[in-house]
Amino acid sequence: MIMIELRELHKQYSLPDHTAIEALKGINLTVKPGEIFGIIGESGAGKSSLIRCVNGLETPNAGQVIINGQDLMQLNKPQLRQMRRNIGMIFQHFNLLSSRTVYENIAFPLELTKTPPAVIAKKVDELMALTGLSGHQHHYTHELSGGQKQRVAIARALANQPLVLLSDEATSALDPETTHQILQLLKKINAELGLTILLITHEMGVIKEICHRLAILEHGNIIEEAHVLDFFNRPQTNTAKRFIRDFSLHELPEHLRARLIDKKIEGAVPLWRLSFLGDAAESPLVTHLIRHFSLSLNILQARIERIRDKTVGVMLLEVEGQPEDLLSGKQYLNEKEVHVEEIGYVQFAA
Ligand SMILES: Nc1ncnc2c1ncn2[C@@H]1O[C@H](COP(=O)(O)OP(=O)(O)OP(=O)(O)O)[C@@H](O)[C@H]1O
Ligand SMILES: [Mg+2]
Repeated sequence: MIMIELRELHKQYSLPDHTAIEALKGINLTVKPGEIFGIIGESGAGKSSLIRCVNGLETPNAGQVIINGQDLMQLNKPQLRQMRRNIGMIFQHFNLLSSRTVYENIAFPLELTKTPPAVIAKKVDELMALTGLSGHQHHYTHELSGGQKQRVAIARALANQPLVLLSDEATSALDPETTHQILQLLKKINAELGLTILLITHEMGVIKEICHRLAILEHGNIIEEAHVLDFFNRPQTNTAKRFIRDFSLHELPEHLRARLIDKKIEGAVPLWRLSFLGDAAESPLVTHLIRHFSLSLNILQARIERIRDKTVGVMLLEVEGQPEDLLSGKQYLNEKEVHVEEIGYVQFAA
């Protein structure tokens, strides 16, 4: 079963001087029903172009967009309008109607589909409860926080019971705690309503928190696609490795980040970030490393974190040893299904 399928999708823009920009260069992608699929990429990678092709706001130059078995390009205007009701969309800047209250914003798409007022009232109440907005029905958008605005946008996007929710950087304008709350809301909606979610983001944290699978978009091509856990444990491309490295740097405690250098200099040793699934016991690993590979280790941090719903152990180690011992140690860890990433060098403290 497939909910969203993109086949050889191409999108070009022409500039006023007639030069062409190839924003999408033959995208193939499938998203299953009930899945949260993330697309991550740098600015200009083509993320918004891709999502606009999926919701029919943009017409591809070639290829197909198939949603729930229907090829968007084969639909006539009324059919396309009907189809677009199956697609909810949320944006970075919320796109709410400022002259309308929370209630009226959520009711808006239902008015457009000529829903009877009594049905609208019931539906809006349900949506406000689902999105945590109860009690705010009479507020205007300028009276709301960013997180509340995004909740209104989500409720509005769900009003016509779409099959698919598309999100274009929906948390990029929010602070970390609000981002977390909105992501948890999306996760809840996905679980309770079985709604398929396609989201685009430039933030690894978003992918890590809620996505089942992801793809990396780079210069209009998908260069890597994976289940989220495999991605963090076995990134394939250099771009993927860089994304993960930048993300772990960002997670690093401030005092460590301050000490980190990116080149090996006299007296500096590598800083390794180990990550492993579930309860892979950490102490035997470390003991083995010290005994068998003549390495000196300094454990700077050991903690449990979550990727989606899975538990992942993370350790930060300063590692001192001969190059060949460092290499064997890394190989040993890889065999034990521990992902090792060298995030930089630090002055050895032990
Ligand atoms: N309407 C347009 N006309 C001309 N070029 C465009 C248009 N929209 C996008 N582009 C170009 O297409 C490429 C992809 O843009 P797109 O907006 O899809 O990237 P993005 O990944 O969403 O970037 P960002 O993270 O900055 O939002 C860029 O080179 C951009 O300049
Ligand atoms: Mg964009």
